[in-house]
Amino acid sequence: MTDIIRARIQEISELTSRIKSIRLVPEAGDKLPTAAPGAHIQVQLPDGGARDYSLVSFDNGAGPPESYTIAVQLEPKGQGGSRYMHELAVGDRVSFAPPKNSFPLEIAPAVFLAGGIGVTPLISMAAALQAANRPFTFHYTGRTASAMAYVAEVRERFNAVLHCDDDPQTALDLAAIIQAVTPEQHLYLCGPRGMIEAAKTAAEQAGIPSARIHFELFDSGAAESGDTAFEVEILSSGQVFTIPPDKTIVEVLEAAGVDVMYDCQRGDCGICQVDVISGTPDHRDVVLSETERDSGKVMQICVSRAKSPRLVLDI
Ligand code: FES
Repeated sequence: MTDIIRARIQEISELTSRIKSIRLVPEAGDKLPTAAPGAHIQVQLPDGGARDYSLVSFDNGAGPPESYTIAVQLEPKGQGGSRYMHELAVGDRVSFAPPKNSFPLEIAPAVFLAGGIGVTPLISMAAALQAANRPFTFHYTGRTASAMAYVAEVRERFNAVLHCDDDPQTALDLAAIIQAVTPEQHLYLCGPRGMIEAAKTAAEQAGIPSARIHFELFDSGAAESGDTAFEVEILSSGQVFTIPPDKTIVEVLEAAGVDVMYDCQRGDCGICQVDVISGTPDHRDVVLSETERDSGKVMQICVSRAKSPRLVLDI
């Protein structure tokens, strides 16, 4: 079993009106492992849940770190995790699982594209490439500069190009960014689902091999307004479950004792993929290609839902 790390909040900074950075130092006797660029920690919440937060490091220091920094964006319509994190004060204690990295960095030339709070893992990656003396370009997009965290730092440190929706001079030109990716460069995408889907599709159409396209979704698989209940039938047992609007297929099946595999629960790792025997999936992941989506034969059950009243899944 994974050892849980206990830490104390050493410092809190308001980065924007909705984003706070939180610096964590270990309790006496606990140690912070070295975390690879792109890693995240899973902070435990009082209700028994947990939330993933990428580690932000401009240092890329060698050896075990003395502190971890995360940045938490308040999500008023979320399930309460960000609210809890925003109410914490200096001196409060939190626990988390050791860092895990599902968004690893290749030490090679790169193009980074960050959307909103998705900038956090890309900061650590850019710092690592800078330390390794590898070239990269850094694009950072958001609604408006005042709502974006670490703007001054990424401009100063990484010469980042800012793209703000409210400024036509700088608005994101995805096609231009993708066209400029050279055969040596890896493309790293982190942000909301719409941005990742659009960038991934553009990259695939531009012929960039999938091995050089890396992405992490900065969204929860939270329910969308208008979601309705649907049924899932398990092929192996014939059991039928109702998936309510506020629960995922994974959550319902796991609570019922069905053995399901999953990891990220955001729709970006691909681990929970299952074959669809019948019914029409409502895809909400960023893993599947357009062809796979259109086939309707596979789906990610951690986030995707149904457009038909029932799905029969090969589980
Ligand atoms: S658990 Fe990662 S895509 Fe579903």
